[in-house]
Amino acid sequence: MGHAPNTRPEGAFEDWTIPQQWSAYTPSEHAMWDHLFARQAEMLKGRVSPTFLAGLDVLRLSKPGIPDFEELSERLQKLTGWSVVAVPGLVPDDVFFDHLANRRFVAGNFIRTPEQVDYLQEPDIFHDVFGHVPLLANPVFADYMQAYGEGGLRSLKYGSLDKLARLYWYTVEFGLIREAGDLRLYGAGIVSSHGESIFALDDPSPNRISFDLKRVMRTKYKIDDYQQTYFVIDSFEDLLRQTLETDFAPLYAELETAPDLTTDTVLADDRVLTLGTQAYAQSRKTS
Ligand code: PHE
Ligand code: FE
Repeated sequence: MGHAPNTRPEGAFEDWTIPQQWSAYTPSEHAMWDHLFARQAEMLKGRVSPTFLAGLDVLRLSKPGIPDFEELSERLQKLTGWSVVAVPGLVPDDVFFDHLANRRFVAGNFIRTPEQVDYLQEPDIFHDVFGHVPLLANPVFADYMQAYGEGGLRSLKYGSLDKLARLYWYTVEFGLIREAGDLRLYGAGIVSSHGESIFALDDPSPNRISFDLKRVMRTKYKIDDYQQTYFVIDSFEDLLRQTLETDFAPLYAELETAPDLTTDTVLADDRVLTLGTQAYAQSRKTS
């Protein structure tokens, strides 16, 4: 979301989509996908929500090579009515939300280079497709993403996108879920990152706090390092219900005057599951 140029790149359609050009991927690009896929699929067993693994499975994402969006969209369409469309990179907020509201997930069509295996600035096809698409095969999460798109368009009218973006960040990108008593990963930014898949679940450094809608929308986030706080939902149903049942307009008005919270804040009324040591964040400051 955000930070996109305001002029549409040459060759992009009016909705900013481009052809994926699947046949143009080189063997080494396909090999990069296979490498990343094998590494994450193995590590995520027992760490990620079973809903994510079910999505990988029904969408046949383990098939070797970079997925072809046409084939992927065909499967997804049948399951939840979503499709995946290619874009050249980040797109303007209103364009992004409009796609989501219409059940189209926008994905970069490029893949990281060998130098970028562990870190890259812009989301590539591995983050976008491996990270985000499996949960779109789940009807509840599929509804949440559409509702988020509609809510996004609405937030622009109130000038409150910065608050709503935090909800996306702490759920869709960096969310944790408690399932059968265990913490599991589901956020795309975590599951597509080797390092953060371990850190978010096992490291003593970050806080893990029960999800609270208003609290999350007050909390700033860091885009260039592991999170200092993760928010934990009880279920996808609960996340969807809470966001659908809440009219965000009064919340936005209220948050206008409430101070933002730093990424490591713990409040007296937070339901804290793990109080982090913040050792990792400290080490990053002094090094
Ligand atoms: N209910 C929200 C609103 O009033 C819309 C929304 C739904 C936002 C789901 C995010 C997720 O704007
Ligand atoms: Fe993402």
